[in-house]
Formats: sequence, C-alpha cells, structure tokens
Amino acid sequence: MSRIVTDPQRAARALADGHLVGLPTETVYGLGALASDAHAIARVFAAKGRPADHPLIVHVRDADAARAWAHDWPAPADALARACWPGPLTIVVPRARRALDAVTAGQDTVAVRVPSHPVFLAVLDALIELTDDPTVGIAAPSANRFGQVSPTTAEHVVEELDAFMHDGDLVLDGGASRVGVESTIVDCTAKTPALLRPGAIDASDIERVIGVAPTGTSAVRAPGTLDSHYAPHARVLLADAGTITSLPDEDATTGLVALADVPTPVGVVRLAAPRSADEYARMLYAALRQGDALGLSRIVAVPPSDGGIGIAVRDRLTRAAHGSQPT
Ligand code: TXA
Ligand code: MG
Repeated sequence: MSRIVTDPQRAARALADGHLVGLPTETVYGLGALASDAHAIARVFAAKGRPADHPLIVHVRDADAARAWAHDWPAPADALARACWPGPLTIVVPRARRALDAVTAGQDTVAVRVPSHPVFLAVLDALIELTDDPTVGIAAPSANRFGQVSPTTAEHVVEELDAFMHDGDLVLDGGASRVGVESTIVDCTAKTPALLRPGAIDASDIERVIGVAPTGTSAVRAPGTLDSHYAPHARVLLADAGTITSLPDEDATTGLVALADVPTPVGVVRLAAPRSADEYARMLYAALRQGDALGLSRIVAVPPSDGGIGIAVRDRLTRAAHGSQPT
C-alpha cells in the first residue's frame, strides 16, 4: 500500500502519534515530526542520514506561535515575520527552553518559519486542535537523504525515504512545490541580520523590510549550507549559454538545464527549458532527478542571470556542481 495520503487531518494524527510525515510546503517537501517529540526527531535524523549537528527548522502557524519558541524576538525578526509570513522565509532567533537540543543541534538559537502552503497550514490547524496548543511546532528538514536533491513532489519523497520510513509514517500529497528551492534563512540574532541561505525572498526584499542590507556572514552556524549539497548522482557542470555548443565530446551522456532561449546541442537531452528564473527554480530539482532517472553521466546547467530567485538557483547549482571536474 502506498504511503501517500491527501488528508491533512490524518497527517496531523500521525504526527501527534509520533510518526514521521512527508509534508508539502511552497518551497520543497519536508520530513515532519512533532517538534516536542525527541524520539520522532531522532528518527528524522536517522531517516535522512543527517549528522546530529545540523539543526532543524520549526514550522508554526503564525508569528505569535514562533515567538513561543524564541527567548527573544528582535525587532528585525518581528518586521520580517509581519512582511513575509506565511512564506518562504526562515528566521533564526535566540531559542526558548522548549526547543529541544536535538532540534537546535545544541545551539542557543532556533530557526522558525510559517510556510504558506494551504495543505501544510491545514495540518498545523488540525495539530493545534489535537494538542490544544496554538504554538505547536513541526520540525521538518527537506525530505531528502543527506546531501541529495530536495523533493518537490510527494513521489520524490517516497523515492528518497520510503526505505527509511516505518509503519504509520505517511507522505501527504499537496502537489508540486510552487517555489522549488528552499526558504531564505535570515539570522536575526546579530545587530545587523545576516543572510544564511538565499531563496525566493532576496537581499533587497529583506533590506526593504528592515531598512539595512543583510550581511553575508554570521557567527551563527548553518551547517546544512555545505559546499557540496543538493547533488544528483550525475556530474553537474555550470556553463554559459555561449560555451555549451563547444562542450568537450567525452564519452558522456549529457543533459541540459537552461532557459528556453538557450538551444539544445545535438546529442544532448533537454531536461528543462524554463521561461523565467521563477520557473527555473520550480523545475530545477525535478530536472536533476530526471537526469538521474535517465542514467545520464552529466548534467550541464546554464544558470539564469543573477538577481531575485536567480541568486538562489545559482547557489544551489554551484553546490550541486561542487567537486565536479572542470571540463
Ligand atoms: O524551505 C525550507 O526551508 C525547507 C522546508 C521543508 O521548510 N526546509 C529545509 O530544511 O530546507 P533543511 O533542514 O534541509 O535546511 C535547514 C537549514 C540548514 O542549513 C540548517 O543548518 C539551518 O537551516 N538551520 C536550522 N536551524 C538553524 C539555526 N538555529 N541556526 C542556523 N541555521 C539553522
Ligand atoms: Mg535540506
């Protein structure tokens, strides 16, 4: 029997009972567990093969609930929460005591986010009813094995994690993720907030909200932001639109991800032809998975020009390509 279900109530009951549930968000799918359940959290780390020192994001219903997980709620966090939630933004703040060490990886900060996906919010509403706690949290990393490509559909979650799930664990289908890359992370523990991970909400959006440009560096560790990450099995190479026609003709089967106006060289499999940077972000991870499903040995990606979500796409592609041989 498939693990995939469509009823948010059922997903909430599974979470309340200590099970893991793959959950749709507007960015990517997460592997959710009740944030207060240490046993379920330990299973999240085991299922992902994730090192214990990589903290998890706590997803909550609204900004008031987020504050209940924070020891302190600095003014920039408040402004960002008001302007960007529900949405693809994660805010790092000093942790309240209720945030488990396993969730924060023992750090004195906690990452909180209110996602905008209606199905995720329906799960939170049902969980609030079941637990009688409006501040209840769902800890959820992206629902991929450690270092692999994040899932943007329920089927991807099953492909990644079914072998590591137990009886009673579920995957809730909420359709394909609208944004396609993980949330922007902003550390609000320093005087000037820092951008820890680029996403759909970019530095200029943040500057507009808080009145200063976020810095690029922070004392806070975001261990998930490793150089090598988001990587398919195929080798990922970054290219310019001008150089893809002269790719060295090795004994390689090659896939291409590039904006629609970039032509496909002869012998190359087109994996995605998005018409905008937004569409590029939405299609990227499915395209990388498709390259692996086809058994391609390499995937050439022409990133969209920088700016807006293009920065996040370039960031993910650079990490996916890390360790690949230059050609
Ligand atoms: O879009 C997203 O953010 C998705 C969806 C499911 O919400 N989640 C996600 O989770 O991407 P994950 O675990 O794959 O990435 C979370 C990142 C990691 O780089 C982690 O180190 C960082 O957030 N993080 C979590 N808690 C933190 C903290 N207290 N301080 C600094 N970084 C933190
Ligand atoms: Mg991840």
